[in-house]
Amino acid sequence: TTSNTGYSTKKVQESAEFLKSKISIFPKIGIICGSGLSGIGDLVENKLVIKYEEIPSFVTSTVPGHKGQLVFGQLGGKDVMCMQGRFHPYEGYEAWVVGFPLRVMKLLGIEIVLITNAAGGINEKYSVGDFMLIKDHISFPGFGGFNTLRGHNDDSFGPRFPPMSDAYDKNLRQLMHESAKEANVDQYMRDGVYCQVAGPNFETIAELRMLRTLGADAVGMSTVQEVVTARHCGIRVVACSLVTNKCVLDYDTGLAPNHEEVLQTGKERAQAMQLLVTCFLRKLSLS
Ligand code: 6GU
Repeated sequence: TTSNTGYSTKKVQESAEFLKSKISIFPKIGIICGSGLSGIGDLVENKLVIKYEEIPSFVTSTVPGHKGQLVFGQLGGKDVMCMQGRFHPYEGYEAWVVGFPLRVMKLLGIEIVLITNAAGGINEKYSVGDFMLIKDHISFPGFGGFNTLRGHNDDSFGPRFPPMSDAYDKNLRQLMHESAKEANVDQYMRDGVYCQVAGPNFETIAELRMLRTLGADAVGMSTVQEVVTARHCGIRVVACSLVTNKCVLDYDTGLAPNHEEVLQTGKERAQAMQLLVTCFLRKLSLS
C-alpha cells in the first residue's frame, strides 16, 4: 500500500476515550480561544482543566497568548468545552493535527463550535478592536494543498468531498448579531471574509493589496482547518475575528504589525468579546 497522511480514527477515539474518563459533563458546545482571547476560558465556571500534554495525540501550543489546555464547565448557562490555545500551521504541524481536536469534539458529542481568532483588518472601514463575524473564508494554505481532509477519508465522519458553501451557519450568525445588540457591542460588529495565510511572517504590502483585491476583509493564520474539519463531520460553526491591527497597504508609512500589538488589542477588547460570547451562549437554544 502507499503511505498515507491524515487522521487515524484510532487516535481520535483514544483521545476521546481519555477525555470521557475524566469528565462528568458532556457539552454540546465547543469554544476555541484565539490569540489574547483565552479570557473566555477563564470565565468558565466549575472548571475541569486538562492540559494538552496529558491528552493522547494532542500536541502543545507553542505560541505566547495560548495556554494549551481544555476547560470543561459552564458558561452563559451552558455546558461547554473550551480550547485555550490552538494549533497553527506555522508551528510546523500537519493539517490533520491542526484539525484533530474537532474530531475529538465530534466524538464527545459537540454539535456547535464557536471559534475566535485575532486578525489583521484589510477592509479600510475596519478599526482596531472591531469584531468581524466571519461569513466566508479564503484559505491560501488550503489552495496549496494544506488541507485537513487530505489523505484517507473516514466516511463515518463525513464525505470525501464535503461542501463549504454553508460553512458559517446563517442562523448562528443571526444569533450572534442579536447577541451583539444585547451585549451592547454591535457598534464594533462587522461581517466579513476571513483570509487565511500560512505565516508566520506578516504579509508584504503587495500581498495585502492582492488580498484586498480578492475580497478579503481580514487576514490571519488560523481557523480554516478547524472549520473544515468541523463542517466535514457536521458540527455547526460560528466564528468571530477580533481585528487586532490595521493592515498597512501603503508604502513608506514606517508602520509594521507585531504580536505584542495583537495581544494588547486582545486585552483591551477581551471583556467585550467575553460579554458577546456569554450573551450568545445564553440565547442559544439546543435541540
Ligand atoms: Cl496583519 N496578518 C496575519 N497574517 N495575521 C494576523 C495579523 C496580520 N494580525 C493579527 N493576526
